[in-house]
Amino acid sequence: MTLIPEINIQNTVSIPRLGIGTWEMGGRQSPDRSEDEKFVHAIRFAVEHGIRHIDTAEMYGNGHAEELVSKAVEGFDRSKLIITTKVSGQNLAYKDLLESAQNSLKRLKTDYIDLYLLHWPNPDIPLHETMKAINELLATGQIRHFGLSNFTVELIKEVQQLTDAPIITNQLEYNLFTRNNGRITEDVESTILPYCMEHGISATAWRPVLKGATNILQQPLIQKIADKHKASPMQIALAWLLNKPLMLAIPKMTSEKHILENIAATKIELTQEEMELLNKLAF
Ligand SMILES: NC(=O)c1ccc[n+]([C@@H]2O[C@H](COP(=O)([O-])OP(=O)(O)OC[C@H]3O[C@@H](n4cnc5c(N)ncnc54)[C@H](OP(=O)(O)O)[C@@H]3O)[C@@H](O)[C@H]2O)c1
Repeated sequence: MTLIPEINIQNTVSIPRLGIGTWEMGGRQSPDRSEDEKFVHAIRFAVEHGIRHIDTAEMYGNGHAEELVSKAVEGFDRSKLIITTKVSGQNLAYKDLLESAQNSLKRLKTDYIDLYLLHWPNPDIPLHETMKAINELLATGQIRHFGLSNFTVELIKEVQQLTDAPIITNQLEYNLFTRNNGRITEDVESTILPYCMEHGISATAWRPVLKGATNILQQPLIQKIADKHKASPMQIALAWLLNKPLMLAIPKMTSEKHILENIAATKIELTQEEMELLNKLAF
């Protein structure tokens, strides 16, 4: 089993740089049980090979992805796992959020959620209401830590005023190809990441392997770096993320080949020069 490098976030929690994402495992907006076995196997295989951070959300398959996660981790030491789940933007009102958390706990068959994220902001619900519920869940221990997802700098600042608890992460669409042009949040690299880094808030890159679009990576520079490290271009794209400070990644991976390839990418150490060249890549 490979030990995946971890980062200590604000002296509060240590999270492995590579986790497994579960979007489209068990359906999109509604449950699809037709491939349950395949997804349970994928998550188990990942955990058996050293992955201990699993990312899911109440929205994925309308709760079914959380059920698959609980099934997949049966028999593993719960204390070794970091389970992240997310409350949907429409459930950020005080009572709704508390109810969402209870439902996630039930589906995950666990007494606590390691990291609970606000999946996306909702301008119609005052953040003080949302944070009142988060602060209560933190106090009872039902959530160990909390974080954000798709939050702008302005909104992160608002959250910081409403809690003494550290914001552990902000999930953002970020990869070698998508720097400031995310579908939900713009200016990630230019504005949001610098603010997060300055405040010790880790970034979790969602869509870190470009949805598997290897053709995007057909660039001489990437191929040259890949050849030097005896790696694939996709592994270099992932290593570029994982070599950045305070950066986590959660690719969704179902095939054993992808799981092993991505785990191996956590060992690739890019030189400063390679990082700078990749930083400057324009697609
Ligand atoms: N916070 C948010 O708003 C938000 C939004 C979207 C996603 N997310 C989270 O982020 C996770 C990842 O994002 P995503 O699923 O949208 O995109 P992704 O991880 O970039 O792409 C997943 C796709 O890439 C393939 N893949 C994985 N590793 C590969 C490799 N080494 N080489 C080639 N292809 C590879 C997978 O194939 P196989 O499955 O066949 O292995 C899958 O089809 C989600 O699962 C979810 O947990 C969060």
